[in-house]
Amino acid sequence: MTPPPVRPDDPVIGIVEDAGVRPSPARARAHRLWGGRFAAESAPALDALNRSVGTDFRLWPHDVRASMAWAVALWDAGVLTLEESQRLEMGLSSVHQQLSDGARPETGDEDVHTMIDRMLNAEVGDLSGRLHTGRSRNDQVATAARLWCADAVTGLDSAVRALQETLIGHATALGDALMPAYTHLQRAQPVAAAHWLLNHFWPLERDRARLAAAGRSAMAVLPLGSGAIAGSAYPISRVLLKESLGFSGVSPNSVDAVGDRDFVAEVLFATALLATHLSRLAEDLIVFGSSEFGFVQFGEAFTTGSSMMPQKRNPDALELVRASGGRALGDLVALLVTLKGLPSGYSKDMQEDKRALFDAVDTLMLVLPAATGALGELAFRRDRMQAAVGSGMMATDVADYLVARGVTFRDAHRAVGTLIRAADAQGLELHELPFAEFAAVHPEFGIDVFESLSPRRSVERRDLTGGTGPGALQAQLEAARAAMAPPRDTPRGNGVVIGAR
Ligand code: ARG
Repeated sequence: MTPPPVRPDDPVIGIVEDAGVRPSPARARAHRLWGGRFAAESAPALDALNRSVGTDFRLWPHDVRASMAWAVALWDAGVLTLEESQRLEMGLSSVHQQLSDGARPETGDEDVHTMIDRMLNAEVGDLSGRLHTGRSRNDQVATAARLWCADAVTGLDSAVRALQETLIGHATALGDALMPAYTHLQRAQPVAAAHWLLNHFWPLERDRARLAAAGRSAMAVLPLGSGAIAGSAYPISRVLLKESLGFSGVSPNSVDAVGDRDFVAEVLFATALLATHLSRLAEDLIVFGSSEFGFVQFGEAFTTGSSMMPQKRNPDALELVRASGGRALGDLVALLVTLKGLPSGYSKDMQEDKRALFDAVDTLMLVLPAATGALGELAFRRDRMQAAVGSGMMATDVADYLVARGVTFRDAHRAVGTLIRAADAQGLELHELPFAEFAAVHPEFGIDVFESLSPRRSVERRDLTGGTGPGALQAQLEAARAAMAPPRDTPRGNGVVIGAR
């Protein structure tokens, strides 16, 4: 029976053909790891549904690495002779080499584990059948996925850092330029433009901490040795395995170890929140780039034109950055909904975890450089930002003027509200009202009240830590630069390669 084609959305299809690997379905099917108790062939529709190699293929470096460690552990446990263990390791290195050189799955490969089993068999013959002693794909896949997550968060960390560096660069160049800050997207108070820009830096800093924590979670416990669910019946040294693969501990419960996908959920939460932050940054820039605001001008490398309207320059990159928030959130929700209600231990539903995980990480790895590029080529229009700071935005400062003269803030607020109403009625800005109006509203107003209508002064007054004042802004920039200084110590394998012994 001919096996069904690889799923249509399977990125592997094209690669298999391009790489010139001759599909050998029969050979791949012979390397199923579970055929013995079945008399009949499985249905093509099951094979099509069950096959995950198109998704999990990318786990191969980690699965090969964990298999090498397992071959050593089997020797250590007295299951394999030294010679057998070494032949398996050499066979696995050759499989690694072939895959690095571009070898791709064959049509009948079920998943990355059976694919590697097939390739190893071609290298070492029947000995390959001994490698699976005492282990299951359940502990294998959990181990490989954890190792993959640790690598993935390291890649994301670098991509987020690049965006943060770009924010710092612009914030530094903006100097003391002022702009309105908005609440409810209504003009609120003047701030340094750099202060607004850096408000997007700190969420990314928290994202990097969350990603690093997710990486640590992934590497916190080694599942290998848990077998299918009850643990391995051989005296495997899990400590040896954990050390060689760079995990910080071993799982305390085999049922939990094969059913635990918390580490995937943690990566997906971190990516969903990161994408949410990127989405908000993109939205700010899109709005500020509209003609109505005109605070920023988009560059040309990350914008597109319209097929109909010759004048258009559309911020497509930023719009797609904004859209990625929905996609990353969808991946998190897909995982949680899949896990919710599963019985203890492994169920095949869990195979879907990688679809969500890889999609979210791939999306972010695509979106982050585009966000960095689009931000990098922005030009800031200080004149437009400054011009948008109306004197009504200093209403709080006028109230503070009265407070400084002993008026309660409640009374001051009411008095300034009356002034704003008067200015509105006459179509004037607050600073255009004659002093008589001020004096009529509250006896504590002196002519020097007009000084409190200066946006620059308003900003300068807010110089406490975290405020928009010049001293605070400098300190903030320093803190942001300091956060960039050393690369974060992300968890990885300890780099020990188990060789012949
Ligand atoms: N491809 C499977 C996955 O990703 C590997 C584990 C298969 N285990 C099993 N009992 N069928 O989850």
